[in-house]
Amino acid sequence: QLDYLIAPSILSADLARLGEDVDKVLHAGADVIHFDVMDNHYVPNLTFGPMVCKALRDYGITAPIDVHLMVKPVDSLIPDFAKAGANIITFHPEASEHIDRTISLIRDNGCQAGLVFNPATPLHYLDHVMDKLDVILLMSVNPGFGGQSFIPHTLDKLRQVRTLIDQSGYNIRLEVDGGVKVDNIAQIAAAGADMFVAGSAIFNQPDYQAVITQMRAELAK
Ligand code: DX5
Ligand code: ZN
Repeated sequence: QLDYLIAPSILSADLARLGEDVDKVLHAGADVIHFDVMDNHYVPNLTFGPMVCKALRDYGITAPIDVHLMVKPVDSLIPDFAKAGANIITFHPEASEHIDRTISLIRDNGCQAGLVFNPATPLHYLDHVMDKLDVILLMSVNPGFGGQSFIPHTLDKLRQVRTLIDQSGYNIRLEVDGGVKVDNIAQIAAAGADMFVAGSAIFNQPDYQAVITQMRAELAK
């Protein structure tokens, strides 16, 4: 498994110069842009919606955009994000009334679909939908804010999901989000993750390329 993706979270970017900052992080070697959508209802914070995603596309950003929906209800935003240029859309199963329908809606709109699990959300939501998922995202912090510490119990959960994915035979990405840093990314990869969201670890440093290069060096160990 050498196919690792690094996905900087623009929650920690310079929001007043978002286009430039996203361009900069992509030139520094990022693979995917992680786009955190918060609604001050499902999570206690408020960020940005489809207009900002579209603005990044209009600015010339062509990299994949991974939209992490921390919103309730979920469905009404999906067509808007697909039109705005999203490639991956993930949502929290407990925020959707009809999980199977929401997954289908994402795929019918031409995007890859994923379920997101909070630290205490049980994995049984995967039971009847593994064949329809492109991504499983495990939160390693409680959602709502950047800059929190990685919750160590996530490593066990990652191992469980890695086993489920391998047993299923489906080609599903295992993404991790929250508190990912240079000094823990190798351990997180060893537990089975292959897509790494990092907000503060990258954007709070002056040299994004140095951080991403260090992360890749850790992943190559
Ligand atoms: C938290 C968000 C994360 C966050 C990660 O609710 O989903 O994507 O930006 O930030 P760091 O990497 O700083 O923990
Ligand atoms: Zn996120």
